[in-house]
Amino acid sequence: MAKILILFAHPALEKSRIHAGLLKNIKGTQGVTLHDLYEVYPDLNVDADREQALLLQHDIILFQHPFYWYSAPAIIKQWQDLVLEHGWAYGHTGKALSGKRMGNVISTGGSQQSYTVGGHHGYTIHDFLLPFRQTARLCNMEYLPPFVIHGTHRLKRQDLPFCCMQYRETLEALRDDKYTPAMLQEAVYLNDLIAQTSDSN
Ligand SMILES: Cc1cc2nc3c(=O)[nH]c(=O)nc-3n(C[C@H](O)[C@H](O)[C@H](O)COP(=O)(O)O)c2cc1C
Repeated sequence: MAKILILFAHPALEKSRIHAGLLKNIKGTQGVTLHDLYEVYPDLNVDADREQALLLQHDIILFQHPFYWYSAPAIIKQWQDLVLEHGWAYGHTGKALSGKRMGNVISTGGSQQSYTVGGHHGYTIHDFLLPFRQTARLCNMEYLPPFVIHGTHRLKRQDLPFCCMQYRETLEALRDDKYTPAMLQEAVYLNDLIAQTSDSN
């Protein structure tokens, strides 16, 4: 069973609809550690030693956050700058994260269609997430397809439970290694794989 670490970042969780719902629904999932970065480091003083120790205890590292300005809330950048040290995470002797998996769990105000070439935002989510993908690569980690909830502003109240259920099932499938390398390579979003694992059960 793989151990999953969720590095969660939402600067205004009290106003959150989507991520508050997602968190509520994954509470207590076996093998999943939730680490709320803004709660632990309200002043952004990220403790690199503590974070590195946490990373070593887990196999799959997920950044969970709302999509802000085509990227992540500030604490994620701070976390990366301080924790992913040369000689530890990357570089000639930096092999601490080798073989682990990394990914993003995000929600966007924009619709799925708006994140296409020719759409309102002009580029795909994968284009915008390139710095994460390359960071994983530099650290000898496998970058997973993202789990994405699009169109949050228009998401109806009754649609949220489905997204929450999909997220929990996705975490369980990752934890239990249900996704083959081929499935992960072909998937645009992790969300797409849920139907495939359910079919094969
Ligand atoms: C500061 C800020 C920046 C945002 N930037 C984007 C963006 O670049 N693209 C986008 O699709 N939505 C953007 N949004 C919308 C958020 O992604 C959306 O409100 C959030 O995912 C909803 O999740 P929540 O209910 O957990 O807060 C932004 C919202 C805020 C407050």
